[in-house]
Parts: sequence; C-alpha cells; structure tokens
Amino acid sequence: MTKPPGKVLPLVAALLCGAVLAQAATPSSPPVTSAAAPVAQTPNHGLLSVPVTSKRGEPSSTATRKPPAPKPPAPKPPADDWNLAAHGKVLYLTFDDGPQHEWTPKVLQVLRKHHAQATFFVLGIQVAQYPELVAAERAAGHHVGNHTFDHKTLTLLPDAKIRQEIGTGVKSKCLRPPTGATNAKIQAIAAAYHQRQVLWDVDTLDWEKPGTAHIEHAIMSGARPGAIILMHDGGGNRSQTVAALDQALTKLTKLGYTYRPLPC
Ligand code: NI
Repeated sequence: MTKPPGKVLPLVAALLCGAVLAQAATPSSPPVTSAAAPVAQTPNHGLLSVPVTSKRGEPSSTATRKPPAPKPPAPKPPADDWNLAAHGKVLYLTFDDGPQHEWTPKVLQVLRKHHAQATFFVLGIQVAQYPELVAAERAAGHHVGNHTFDHKTLTLLPDAKIRQEIGTGVKSKCLRPPTGATNAKIQAIAAAYHQRQVLWDVDTLDWEKPGTAHIEHAIMSGARPGAIILMHDGGGNRSQTVAALDQALTKLTKLGYTYRPLPC
C-alpha cells in the first residue's frame, strides 16, 4: 500500500488512502480482461496475471466497506491459450451431440449448481431445432464447438461432403469430429474453416449407459489438471450422465477443481 504522506495533512492522507482503496477494490477482475486483450503467447503471461490480481485484492479485503463477494470465478486465461495444463486444477468438461430438449437443460442446471463452465460440441441439425438452448448455453458463459451438421463419420466421406458437414455446423473456433474419427485431411479442412480440432483426454463412455457409478468413476479417475472430459447431452437418455456429473462435481470441487470452457 501507499505510505502515509506524514502528519501534516492527515485529512488529505485519509482521502488519498480512501481513493486508493476504492481503486484497488473495484478492478479486481478487469486487469485480467486487459491482460487477455494483447497477444500473449508466453505461458508466463497467464500465470503472472493471477498474482497481480490477488495482490491488488489484498488491500481491499482489509477495508470493511463491503462483505466479501461470493467466491469469484477463477481468472480466465488468454483467449487462445491452449496450454490447458498450465492453470492448475482446472477441468474442461465437454458435452457432445446436443442440444436436446430434455437433457441439455438438466446438464445446464447441474453446471450452474456447481458454478462450472463447460463446452458444448453441438450438431447443426440439433441447433436448427433448438436454437434457444444454444443461446442459453452461451448466455451462461459456456462455449460452443462444432460437432458437424449431422454426425456423419468424416473419414468415410468424400472431400466435398466433409466440407459440407463442417461448413454447415455451428460457427466456432473448434471442431470435434464425430466419434473422434479423423485424419490429416480432415484436420486441414477444419483449419481452412479456422477450426481447431479438439478431441478429449477422458472418455466417460456415458453414451453406452454403463451406470451412474461407472460414469462418475471415469470422471474421477481421469481428473487431472487440464484434462478434457467427454460426455454427452444428446443422442439418447442422459439421466446417468446428469446424475454422475452432479456427484463428480461435488467431489471434485472439494478437491479444489474448477471448470472452464475451452478457448473455442
Ligand atoms: Ni458425437
């Protein structure tokens, strides 16, 4: 904090101090926003922004003018930071094959309950049917990725059809090819659409409906800093996914994990 200017001007000192405190109190998150704006490729950049934020927050916590706000969301890394393992205990929850009228709202509800943000890899054909659900995903701070138009296996298609499947999917910076089937050609076509191919680290196999406990165990055993976890909010009954997600997030949050959307 600033040093008091001396005993000559106690009133001025108090005013100055108050002004500094007020300044320190308000921008506890804006520095992160401004840090994200410039091109920042070094991994250190994102890491440095965290201590700066918390240092600035310290003086404001000594002032008694406000009760502490509910725990703020973790500072976001720079927009294109794919160094996912560099941000501590952060998990990247992903949901494929939606949106779907029954299960997507339930997944959104569980995510909201746990203050979790995720990424939905949606199908164009579903988006056309439920545009309001994609809007709800975005409004809640989740990110949306392209899972193609109608879930064809891209590796089995001629080039023109691959382009059609990718190009008529939702606009996004990320593509997750259906079933993960891909090759260099598909990756190159995706790149031509400015879409980065994103697969996963942990496959919960929830689409096989193996039971809630099995899905929860898959999430828990795969959790590690930066892991991308694959689940589904469409393509069938997802009651097991919803229940397993709720249980796993309860445990993972106690272990110190937070949940961020992919930079899609
Ligand atoms: Ni899929």
